[in-house]
Amino acid sequence: MDRNDISAYWDAKAEALKTDPSATMKDVILRSLEIEAIGRRLRETDDLLDVGGGNAFAGIQWAKHCRSVRVVDFSEKMVAYGREAVAEAGLTNVQTERGSVLELETFAGQYSAVSCIRVLINLPDREDQLRGVDQLASCVAPGGRLFLIEGLEETFTAMNAMRETMNLPAIPLDWHNTLLPKEALEQRLERELKIDERVDFGEYYYLSRVLHPLLVAPDEPTFQGRCNQEARRLWQAGTARGRFADISTLVLYVCSRPE
Ligand SMILES: C[S@@+](CC[C@H](N)C(=O)[O-])C[C@H]1O[C@@H](n2cnc3c(N)ncnc32)[C@H](O)[C@@H]1O
Repeated sequence: MDRNDISAYWDAKAEALKTDPSATMKDVILRSLEIEAIGRRLRETDDLLDVGGGNAFAGIQWAKHCRSVRVVDFSEKMVAYGREAVAEAGLTNVQTERGSVLELETFAGQYSAVSCIRVLINLPDREDQLRGVDQLASCVAPGGRLFLIEGLEETFTAMNAMRETMNLPAIPLDWHNTLLPKEALEQRLERELKIDERVDFGEYYYLSRVLHPLLVAPDEPTFQGRCNQEARRLWQAGTARGRFADISTLVLYVCSRPE
């Protein structure tokens, strides 16, 4: 697996799905939770840099919560469809352009908010993943925040262990993904930033990845099935917040740079 294969993969996804939210994640309900989790935390005065923002689907929604959004992505096609979506939405406070999470020097210290969702897991090399963390942190202005959502090795393994207990097969990792070890990620974040919150989607994982397949067997669960929709409502209500954190593959780190 190399970086060119991964870039070609995302170009092909953009060509196939264009401005659709599923272009960057099949589970569009989980994706909506990610967007909501960050959207709720944005401030009206924020200038947001969204790194690896794909076709700008999230950026367009966040533009309602902050002053401006700049979306950068490695894939030329994602950027092109992002530009189309921004024009269609008639927004003047969102721009999209090509850029790499490993080369953010021009944005150093400039943003009150920086977001990055499921991008570092596309870097096959651990050292590059951690360099990506440094690059993201470097863009955060004093008093600003980084919203980072990545997949963790430990929680993915725990989720699959739970499935196996219920005689469900383990979910394979996509060929282009390399999950991060929790401790290494957190240590690297804490070199520059303070971790203020860890927001998990554990109850959604429990209901969508464990209960849902059991309920519909022998059929396959669908991403937009009833169970996942109710799981979204449960997550939004927050009634079980944190209780399934250890099986939440994706975790939102809310980090800040002191003034
Ligand atoms: C899983 S998608 C996530 C997209 C978006 N953040 C979202 O919330 O759905 C990964 C995105 O990262 C982009 N990407 C992959 N490697 C990258 C890199 N080195 N720098 C910037 N973007 C990259 C891909 O083109 C793709 O759009």
